[in-house]
Amino acid sequence: MRALLHALLGASLAVMSVPAAAAADPLAPTGRWSANTAGQAPLPPMGWASWNAFNSDIDEEKILASAQALVDSGLASLGYRYVNIDDGWWLRRRADGRLIIRTDRFPSAAIGADPSFRPLTDRLHAMGLKAGIYSDIGRNSCGQIYTPDFSNQPEGTVAEREVGLYGHVDRDIRLFFADWNFDFIKVDGCGIRGLPADAPHVRSGMYRALTPLVDMQSLGVTDVAAVRALYQEVGEAIRTHSRGRPYVYSICLWGAADVRQWGKDVGNMSRTSDDIQPSWARMLTNLDTVVTRALYAGPGAWNDPDMLFVGTGDFDDRHLTQARSHFSLWAMLNAPLIIGYDLRRMTPALRAVFGNAELVALNQDAAGNQAVLAYDSDQVQGFVKMLADGSKAVALFNRTASPVQALVSADQLKLRPDADVALRDLWSGRQQSFRGELPLELAPHETRVFRASGTRRLPGGLYLSEMPGSVNPAEDGVPQPEADPTIERSITPWMGTRGSGEHAQYAGWGGADADRAPYRKLLRIAGRAFDTGIGILANSRLEVRNSGFRAFEADVGVNDSGRQGSSPVTFEVWGDGVLLARSEPMGFGDPAARLAADVAGRRIVELVARSADGATLAPSPVTWGNAALLR
Ligand code: GLA
Repeated sequence: MRALLHALLGASLAVMSVPAAAAADPLAPTGRWSANTAGQAPLPPMGWASWNAFNSDIDEEKILASAQALVDSGLASLGYRYVNIDDGWWLRRRADGRLIIRTDRFPSAAIGADPSFRPLTDRLHAMGLKAGIYSDIGRNSCGQIYTPDFSNQPEGTVAEREVGLYGHVDRDIRLFFADWNFDFIKVDGCGIRGLPADAPHVRSGMYRALTPLVDMQSLGVTDVAAVRALYQEVGEAIRTHSRGRPYVYSICLWGAADVRQWGKDVGNMSRTSDDIQPSWARMLTNLDTVVTRALYAGPGAWNDPDMLFVGTGDFDDRHLTQARSHFSLWAMLNAPLIIGYDLRRMTPALRAVFGNAELVALNQDAAGNQAVLAYDSDQVQGFVKMLADGSKAVALFNRTASPVQALVSADQLKLRPDADVALRDLWSGRQQSFRGELPLELAPHETRVFRASGTRRLPGGLYLSEMPGSVNPAEDGVPQPEADPTIERSITPWMGTRGSGEHAQYAGWGGADADRAPYRKLLRIAGRAFDTGIGILANSRLEVRNSGFRAFEADVGVNDSGRQGSSPVTFEVWGDGVLLARSEPMGFGDPAARLAADVAGRRIVELVARSADGATLAPSPVTWGNAALLR
C-alpha cells in the first residue's frame, strides 16, 4: 500500500512540473518568497500616531507639536520617524470625488480651491520625519459607524460623507501618495463591516448600505477572498502612485477575515486584534493575538498588536513596571513601535521607556525575527529572539498581579547548559552569568529582558525556529480558519460587563508554529519529543530563505497530536523549485524519519507536507523536528 502511494505521489509530482497544473496546486513549489516585500518595512515601522493620544480630536498644532517632541526628545533619531494622522482629518468628498480636508483644523491645507496636505507633509519631511494618513476600505469610516460622539465627523449629504476608499481607490491613493506625498497609510475596515441594510444608521438614511464582507463573530459568513481582494487592490494602487518612493501599507482588520494568515502577503503590517486600551487585561488580549505567530512575520510584513499605550492609564508614569512590560513585549515581538501618547506632556520617566535604545535595538534587529514563545503558562511567559549578531534576547513576563518565581534556562535559549551564559539586563544594565538555569523573581506585572550570549547548541547552523523571519508559511494547511480560543478575554470599555462577555473571535487557531505543534501541542513523533522544530498541518508549504547554508536536516513525521488511522503524509524538500529529498509516506505512529538535503546555492528552500488523501477538512498535524540549516 505504502509503495503504491509513494509511486502515485511520485507520478503526481511529475505531472505537477507542468506550469498549468502547478498553478492549480497550492503545494507546488515556486522557488520564490511569496510574503510581501514591496514597500519599505525591512524593520518594524516606528513613530507616533494621533489616535490613542487624541482620538479624532486632532488638529495641525497637535500633530506638529508631537512631531517636534519626537525630534526634540531625541526619539526621532532613535528611529521614531512616522507621524501618522489617524481618523478625524476629513471634511467631505466633493461632487467631483476629491477628498476635502478640515481646513479649520489644518489651516496650512487651505491653499486655494483644492485643500492639500502637501504643506504639512513638506514640514514633516523637512523635520526629517515621515508622514502617515488614514482611510477606510469601505465607503464610511470607523468613527462614522461606531462612535456617536465623535469629533470631526465628515459633513454634508450621504454621498459627501462617503470618505472611504470604496469605489475611489485609484483617485484617493493618487491623492495621498502622488499629490500629498504621504509615506504611510493605515486602511481601516469598518465600512465593510458595519453597514448592513438593517443597521440603524442605514435605516435612518445617514449612510448607504454595504453588504458586510466581514463578520467578527463568524468566519463562515465572512467573505475572506473578497476582503483580501479589496486590500490587494489598494496595495497595487499604492505601488503605482508612490512612483518608486518608499511607503508603508498598514492593514487594520483587527484579526478578522483570517487576516493573520494573509495580511503578510498583502501589507507591510497588519492588525491582529481589536483596539488596545490603556488597561492591563486589554494589553494581554492584544499580546496574545501575536505570540504564537512568529512565522507569520518577517522583513516586509509585521504582525501588529496595535499602537503602544505606554504613558496612559495602567501604563502611565505611576505604573512604570507595567509600562516597561508593554514596551518590552512589543519590542521583542517585532510589533511596530507606534507611540500613542500626547508627547507634549512626556516626563523623563516615560522618555526613558520609549528611549531605551537597547530595547529599540531588539525591535530593529536586522535579522527580523519575532521572538518565539519558549515557555508558556497563564502566569509566566518566556520569549526568545535570535539576533543578527548570533546572540539572543530573552524576556520573562509575569502576566499576574502577584510576584512569581521563574527561571532563565539555557535549554530554552538553545544554548549549552554546561557553558557560561552571559546576561545583560536591558532595563537595569546589570551584567551577570550563569550555567544551566538562573532563578529569578518577577515582581507583579514585571518583564525582565536580557541580551544573552553563550555556546550555541547547534554551533554550525540555525534551527528554523531560530529564524522565523526567514520562514514563511505560504500554505499553512489550515482548511478553514478558526478563531483562537487561547486569547485573553478582557472586559472591553465599549461593552463593560453587558451581554455575554468576550469569546474567541480572532482567527489564527491551528496555524504553523515555532517549537510547537499546531493548536499549541507538543512536537512529538511516536513518543519522541522535540524541543525544536516547526509544527504545521499536512497539505502545507513553507518557504525558507537560505543565506549561504549548505544542508537542510529534519526529523519528520505525523505529530502525536494527530489521529489513529489518518492518511499518510509525505515530506518533501525543494530548492529553488527542484525536488531535493522526499520521505516515504508516513503514518500516524510511525517513528520519525531523517530527511536531509544538499541546499548549497539554493536561495529558497521549500518544505512540503502532502497528505495522501489530498485536501481534507482534518489534515494531520506534522512535525519538522530539529529542522535546521547547516553551514
Ligand atoms: C478603528 C481602528 C483604530 C482607530 C479608529 C479610528 O477602531 O482599529 O485603531 O483607527 O478606528 O476611528
